[in-house]
Order: sequence, then C-alpha cells, then structure tokens
Amino acid sequence: MEIVENINELASYISSVKTNVNIGFVPTMGALHEGHLNLIKASKLNGDITICSVFVNKIQFNNEEDFIKYPRNIDQDIELLQQAGCDCLFIPTQEIVFPLDYVFENFVLGNIEEILEGFYRPGHFQGVCNVVNRFINLIHPNKLYLGIKDLQQCKVIEKMIQLEKYEPTVELVYCATTRNEKGLALSSRNKRLSSIAQEKALILIETLKSAKDQISNKRNQLYTIHQLAIDAILNYGFESVDYFEFVNQDFELIDHQSTEQNPAFILTAATIEGVRLIDNIIL
Ligand code: PAJ
Repeated sequence: MEIVENINELASYISSVKTNVNIGFVPTMGALHEGHLNLIKASKLNGDITICSVFVNKIQFNNEEDFIKYPRNIDQDIELLQQAGCDCLFIPTQEIVFPLDYVFENFVLGNIEEILEGFYRPGHFQGVCNVVNRFINLIHPNKLYLGIKDLQQCKVIEKMIQLEKYEPTVELVYCATTRNEKGLALSSRNKRLSSIAQEKALILIETLKSAKDQISNKRNQLYTIHQLAIDAILNYGFESVDYFEFVNQDFELIDHQSTEQNPAFILTAATIEGVRLIDNIIL
C-alpha cells in the first residue's frame, strides 16, 4: 500500500495508476474498525483502485472536547488497511487539507442540514461537505464509498454531489451498516463505553426493529411507536434521547400525528455514559 502525505505525492500516485481504471475513494477519520474495512473491501470487490483517507476533520466537530477525545491510532489503521488490500492511504495534515488561505464553501443543502443530526450538531454537515468536496477535487474518484450507518451524511453528500456536478461524475456506493455479533452498529465511539453500556446500547437497534415491525404490521400509530421507543431507550439506562424519528424517501421528517404516513427510514441518536450513539433502519 502506498502512503501519501501531501498533494504532490497524491497527484503523482493518481497519475501513475489512472489508465482505464476506476478510482474508489473511502473517506474516514481513522480509528478504523470492521465497518470502515468493509467499505474498502466493497471497493476492491468492484475492482477499483482504492484510496482511503484518514483525517480527523476539526471543522465538522461542533464540540471541541469530542474532537480532542476522538480516538487516533494510525499505526493500527495502516496495518488494517494493508490487510484489507487498500491501494493507497492519504494522511494529510490540517494545513494540507485546509491551508490558511482556503476559502470554505457554503453548500446550499436545504432542510436536510436543519433536521436530526443537523439540528443537534449545527454546522456539522457544512464541515463534512467541505472536507469531502476538497478530497473529491484532489482525488477525482469515480466512486465514493459511504456507510449507511451515517445515513443522513450519505443523503447530504448525495445532495452536494448533485450541486457540484463533478467531472468525472462521482457515483455513490452505499454500504450496509456493519454490526457486532449482537447487533450493535460498530462505531469508533463504542470503545469509550463500558461492557455493560455496550450491552445496553443494543436497545437502539432493538427499538428500531420493533418500530419497523409495528409499522409494517400497521399495529400502532407513529406517535405511539415514537413514545414506546423513547421510553424503552431511557428505561434501558440511556441518559437522553436526542431523537427517534421517521423520514420519508425525500428525507423529510414525518409528523407523528399525520395519517398519511409513508416512512422510508427511522433514525435515532441517544447518549449513554456520555457517549452519543446513532443508528437507523430502512423500511
Ligand atoms: P468516519 O466516522 O470515520 O466514517 C467513515 C465512513 O465509514 C463513513 O462513510 C461511515 O458511514 C462509515 N462507517 C462507520 N461505521 C460504520 C459501520 N458500522 N458500518 C458501515 N459503515 C460505517 O463519517 C466520517 O468518518 C466523516 O464524516 C467523513 C465522511 C470521513 C468526513 O470527515
């Protein structure tokens, strides 16, 4: 695996490989786990030359402490990426990604950046879009591999790609959420949880599955499903639930009281032992 640290090295790596091959790009913030590695594997299975970036993007953290506490383990990341067959790892510094004269863009994302994660993490999605846009402009990937674990992020980046009209076009490849054997969605943040909290955290996927079941069997109205879910998560020992919400195919929030309900996804965010976890389910 080639390891590149600056823009010149990246450009010469790309020009050395780019003849009739597709480039698959997997952006990450490191502290890699099986969920990240499955994105690399998906890209390799598609036969793409696979570039992974590891960059803890300060501007997408709206909480300084979360940025400082974010796990960093580049030596282990390198080893895991090598084993997964990644072709090239880009590990730039802050100055390389966003030099002092860098002009940040304001992407017109609309309502999607105001709701759910956007509501609880103001500015987060602009930070994500700025860094992903920057990487796309440096790498010119044909495909971008993202995890459905961060479903709203997938939809935001989809919107940004529509707005930016990259050349060559960037195809999005959404990869399923990787879970542990019990069903907990893998996340770098899980490492901060005690083993008891990791068990309790299973209630997130359990309530999502139960809500899906209640919807498909038309057993309860959304407001009842919502209330049961919030109660269950709190009773299980979560300190707080930011949201447990239903959105339609266009990623608009669905009113719990409305009778015309056609949810496409359910998403939740909740905090246990001071660690904020997110998960979702597709209907
Ligand atoms: P990070 O949290 O490191 O995630 C990198 C990619 O891995 C994202 O596409 C995310 O959805 C995916 N991923 C994480 N956990 C996963 C799991 N359990 N199953 C499947 N995919 C999973 O998301 C980011 O970094 C950043 O916002 C980034 C896009 C790199 C921009 O800075």
